[in-house]
Amino acid sequence: MTKQFPKGFLWGGATAANQYEGGFGEGGRGFATSDTSRAVSPEERKTMGGSEFNSPMTLEKLKFAMEDTEGLYPKRWGSDFYNRYKEDIALFAEMGFKTFRLSIAWPRIFPKGDELEPNEEGLAFYDKVFDELNKYGIEPLVTLSHYEFPIHLVTEYGGWKNRKVIDFFVRYAETVFNRYKGKVKYWLTFNEINILGMTGYLSGGLLFEDGKLHLDEMYQAVHHQFIASSLATKAAHEIDPENKVGMMLARMEAYPATCHPDDIMNAVQKDQSNLFYSDVQIRGEYPRYMNRFFRENNIEIKFEPGDEAILKQYPVDFMSFSYYMTSVTRHPNNQTAEQKATAGNLITGEANPYLEASDWGWQIDPVGLRVTLNKLYDRYQIPLFIVENGLGALDTVEADGSIHDSYRIDYLEKHIEQMYEAIEDGVELMGYTPWGCIDLVSASTSEMSKRYGFIYVDADDQGNGTFDRSRKDSFFWYKDVIATNGANILND
Ligand code: BG6
Repeated sequence: MTKQFPKGFLWGGATAANQYEGGFGEGGRGFATSDTSRAVSPEERKTMGGSEFNSPMTLEKLKFAMEDTEGLYPKRWGSDFYNRYKEDIALFAEMGFKTFRLSIAWPRIFPKGDELEPNEEGLAFYDKVFDELNKYGIEPLVTLSHYEFPIHLVTEYGGWKNRKVIDFFVRYAETVFNRYKGKVKYWLTFNEINILGMTGYLSGGLLFEDGKLHLDEMYQAVHHQFIASSLATKAAHEIDPENKVGMMLARMEAYPATCHPDDIMNAVQKDQSNLFYSDVQIRGEYPRYMNRFFRENNIEIKFEPGDEAILKQYPVDFMSFSYYMTSVTRHPNNQTAEQKATAGNLITGEANPYLEASDWGWQIDPVGLRVTLNKLYDRYQIPLFIVENGLGALDTVEADGSIHDSYRIDYLEKHIEQMYEAIEDGVELMGYTPWGCIDLVSASTSEMSKRYGFIYVDADDQGNGTFDRSRKDSFFWYKDVIATNGANILND
């Protein structure tokens, strides 16, 4: 029997406006939190723990970035999708994409975030994008908020810790649900909602003047995003019963370092701190294990009357997540100085001796994807969607313009094989959209040279280059995967 993916499996690729769209200052778009991300040198990257997500933002730093005329802010130009969307979508169609994940830049629709009326020019831009996708039969998968938080809501309202932001978000969500009714069916509310509980600024708009992260404000902001997400889900279903809304988690599967029971318990707790977000958004209530965490960290979440009912009544339809790696965890009593640290997506931790790592030190674990798919499906029993996965790597352009990215093909192939195994295990998997299907700016380091794409973009970390697009070897490989519905790699 020929092995292949289920009929209707949504193959595609993923991007986000803040790293891909560009068009800064064009079409009436307002300032976004991501516009303040400065280009980071490889040396700086080492001292900041691998990610700008880890450094708290202050008003002074923010104002400096907004007024700075000399620094480089690569997310402002991204890969210039704003002006090249037709060419890009034609390339996605050539690969056979069934779906394409993108985000709407909230400040393109409501430049300041708190206006009563949307910016027509911004709405018209996405009309053109969705029409172009529909022309090729590519289903848009749209994230409402992927780090493009309107900066005015930071300076005037203090970001998501302010409950008023819920209303602004719901107005924005309703506006786009109404406008794109019939054009978009799949929606995600907040990208990697759990990073708000680890950082604060990019997606939550939180400032910490003393340079320290404050967990109480972060979890209050998370609560407001939960409510906003539920209300948006309600609106999505009311406006068009065809709409399907997903939550989006940065999945962090944590392995215990040993079979010492304390290490096992540590892994259980790590898992809970990650699954807290999906537990609320899928089960519709706060899990009891968080009570202890809140108590021990002096966190008291303010619930308004009706909040519990909102969470319960409007859970999401499906669960989406990003998967880049697994981590290893050990009880503090069992830690020794020699345990090697490894870098990672928002987390740093102990290295797994059985795994290899990418150029950026992220450990590569295809089987971990099968583990996590099984675990998530066992827990929730709702459809899953892998909306990010991939290898950030340095690519070399040969003299004839070709790019031989066999390392990327190898990475993706191994993950796809494990996805298939998970489906065989009984997991309901809707689709797969590898991250940065076309090269774009890195979220954590603002580098262009950390490339994920099937499509190369001729631009460097400083924004020099033609921005011309070209096909890597992985482009042709992925085209075959989609054309054969996975059969080409599952049966070789
Ligand atoms: C996820 C984000 O955390 O990881 C993306 O949703 C991001 O926005 C991706 O780009 C990869 O991380 P990075 O730092 O390599 O761009």
